[in-house]
Amino acid sequence: MSDKKASNQMWGGRFASGPAAIMEAINASISFDRKLYAQDIRGSLAHSEMLAETGIISTDDQHKIAHGLNTILKEIETGQFEFSTRLEDIHMNVEARLAELIGSAAGRLHTARSRNDQVAVDFRLWVKDEFHRVAEALKGLIAVFLVRAEEHAATVMPGFTHLQTAQPVTFGHHCLAYVEMFARDLSRVRDAIQRMDESPLGAAALAGTGFPIDRRQTAKALGFREPTRNSLDSVSDRDYALEFLSVAAISATHLSRLAEEIVIWSTPQFGFVRLSDSFSTGSSIMPQKKNPDAAELVRAKTGRVNGHLIGLLTVMKGLPLTYSKDMQEDKEAVFDAAETLDLMLAAMTGMVGDMTINVAAMKKAAGSGYSTATDLADWLVRTLGMPFREAHHVTGRAVALAETKKVGLEKLMLEDLQSIHDGITQDIFSVLSVQNSVKSRTSFGGTAPSEVRKQIRYWKKRLAKA
Ligand code: ARG
Repeated sequence: MSDKKASNQMWGGRFASGPAAIMEAINASISFDRKLYAQDIRGSLAHSEMLAETGIISTDDQHKIAHGLNTILKEIETGQFEFSTRLEDIHMNVEARLAELIGSAAGRLHTARSRNDQVAVDFRLWVKDEFHRVAEALKGLIAVFLVRAEEHAATVMPGFTHLQTAQPVTFGHHCLAYVEMFARDLSRVRDAIQRMDESPLGAAALAGTGFPIDRRQTAKALGFREPTRNSLDSVSDRDYALEFLSVAAISATHLSRLAEEIVIWSTPQFGFVRLSDSFSTGSSIMPQKKNPDAAELVRAKTGRVNGHLIGLLTVMKGLPLTYSKDMQEDKEAVFDAAETLDLMLAAMTGMVGDMTINVAAMKKAAGSGYSTATDLADWLVRTLGMPFREAHHVTGRAVALAETKKVGLEKLMLEDLQSIHDGITQDIFSVLSVQNSVKSRTSFGGTAPSEVRKQIRYWKKRLAKA
């Protein structure tokens, strides 16, 4: 390339060799789609076997192709393979090396196939594997929560709305709230796998092929339930990737809320949990500090995962059918979201499993903020037949009185309460303790330890089958 071009002021910049280099840099995907090498080779092996069985290529050529592909697999796995940007992507890198290794037979592999269905099948295989990895990680996290829930089925803590003390709950119940969330994430993963479990291989460039291929055979060989039913859709569909990103974003958002709770709970002001040294760091200047860095990073990385979802939705939204090169941008988004989510799930599983629960601090906080006021109102309704609205009013006055006396509701004298309503008897104190409050909430899905234990049994059984 001439120096004149290299020094072009508008677009020369770092591309010393001119426009061809810029084209190569914007066009090539090998720097990231090399991650698909195993899927690419698997797809090619299945395709070549089918081509031989249908008589489209000779068995002899197929053997050469298979041998060459297996050699390439080994070369890549042992770090001996030389990836070339000039060869653009993983598909062409593999095919070019195959030609070097086996000569002209290599040229027969791409019969009845295009890079369009090739990349579609490679990426589907990768996303499907990743879905399975996420499912396992979610199961691990749920299992840890069930252990913690069992340990703390009767540990009381304040339940919050608006981050204001609302009613006492049990920590076990709080853990089970996350079990519900992550179990729904798991079911979303399972649903998504069901929907994407079709092989696009054989759609060729976009219109299918005149060769007598057997798409059921390749679908089966690659572990898909069946082949896709429309060749145009097969090469232009990326909603399995979008679905992965949305499942990832929802799950990351759940992880982020949990991370936020851990950040709050681990402050000295709350002191509900203490993170293990493995999941916290000290401050270089303030010796008293123990920072919840891992939780903060889980919270922050959610932004990245959510961003990838919006990114790919935006890439896809204006594309006419079928394939456009825009779709090459699907991979980095999914790869990064996957790597990030895997790490977030691992970190959170470790953190939740390791953290120490400060039962005394939780209990103390559970009783503060007049958390049993609703129990008092419920007692008035139940025992005195008072309409709830009136009971709410009477309770409000009791809270105000307790506030002026600077005591909790359970520390008020019977006479004080009777001065507000003369129907109140000694029996009311039985509902004002935090323990009795949670014990009484036995409605299905409620916070009573008995109910929490019931739900733990349910989830243990379900998880064994999940
Ligand atoms: N590297 C491309 C991608 O990831 C492969 C498909 C190329 N197809 C094409 N018609 N240029 O999308």
